[in-house]
Amino acid sequence: MATAGKVIRCRAAVAWAAGKPLSVEEVEVAPPKAQEVRVKIVATGICCTDDHVLGGYFPNAEFPVIPGHEGAGIVESIGEGVTSVKPGDKVIPLCLPQCGQCCFCLNPDSNYCMKSHLYESQNLMPDKTSRFTCKGKRIHHFLWISTFAEYTVMPEYAVAKIEAAAPLDKVCLLACGFPTGYGAAINTAKVKPGSTCAVFGLGGVGLSVVMGCKAAGASRIIGVDINKDKFAKAKELGATDCVNPKDFTKPIHEVLMEMTGLGVDYSFEAIGLADTLTAALASCNMNTGVCVMAGELASGSMVSFDPLLLLSGRTWRGTLLGGWKMRDSIPKLVSSYLEKKFNSDLLITHTLPIAEVNKGFELLRAGKSIRSVLLF
Ligand code: APR
Ligand code: ZN
Ligand code: ZN
Repeated sequence: MATAGKVIRCRAAVAWAAGKPLSVEEVEVAPPKAQEVRVKIVATGICCTDDHVLGGYFPNAEFPVIPGHEGAGIVESIGEGVTSVKPGDKVIPLCLPQCGQCCFCLNPDSNYCMKSHLYESQNLMPDKTSRFTCKGKRIHHFLWISTFAEYTVMPEYAVAKIEAAAPLDKVCLLACGFPTGYGAAINTAKVKPGSTCAVFGLGGVGLSVVMGCKAAGASRIIGVDINKDKFAKAKELGATDCVNPKDFTKPIHEVLMEMTGLGVDYSFEAIGLADTLTAALASCNMNTGVCVMAGELASGSMVSFDPLLLLSGRTWRGTLLGGWKMRDSIPKLVSSYLEKKFNSDLLITHTLPIAEVNKGFELLRAGKSIRSVLLF
């Protein structure tokens, strides 16, 4: 491409400081160095985790930063040594990389990679420099992929080639929200046919959990949310019952115990709050119940709970991106999407131009959207 090897000037939504709205600016994007890939982002979803960054409660994020991690695009150019993608390929940037070499990547039971932010910062490229500048200032990357930029640079092991037929404005959701929830049910909890599930939080992640529980053959799926406007979509996607904790004076775990006898087989927390995390734990069967934490608590949060809840036998698990080894699995999920094995499009409630990125966040905070997709 004519732009290969050159700095590209393009639009990006920049977060200059915590607690401030994003500002759509012209930024300069340097060419990819060795083992790096520059991608033209076509579409990107807005995920709650981006809102955590804007609020300043995402662990270790540094300002100014270009957030965004639910994108899909086309490779514009590649650095020296890159072999898995070429210019013109459709790709999904991976917020959880897969280096293929660390002890977790080599472990078939793990999808964590030691190149990711819980172990090592991804605020700059691996060589500790940034590819972004704006108004003469260095701008940080976010999880290496910063999909709120029209062009963005990432290491090769943080990008996956997908089928050319994939609609980028739809499959961008397969970069985070959908696989997180869907995989929490089928990979992490391994929901069994005929089982009973409870899903706390019916946003993009929780609704994807509902879809995963249904695909796994659960016979009862109880959605829990304080916003009753979420119930219609949850039922459309497979929830058999929906309950609003605000409709009860007793704690919601007691309500779920009464509804199910001994508690649910699997409970999922897809909100990101300490109270709902312990309520989800207390809602599952005291001995055989499995509770999966899919929501991300604000950094620094602490949870206190009655240890008897675990002593009786319950299992409490976390999930990162639904347990998928991202580089191996995301292309397969895209193929499954194209084969209509699931319909993640139902999560998209709004499509907005990048210039309206702040409106997208307002819709999310007001509980009026499930997923907004931004287009460049
Ligand atoms: N009890 C029940 N439901 C609640 C409560 C509560 N106390 N507080 C909020 N909710 C509901 C909201 O009404 C909303 O429907 O939880 C849902 C959260 O959905 P979104 O805000 O759309 O978030 P989502 O993108 O689904 O992400 C959920 O997963 O990946 C993480 O960072 C993400 O922690 C976040 C979580
Ligand atoms: Zn996300
Ligand atoms: Zn790795």
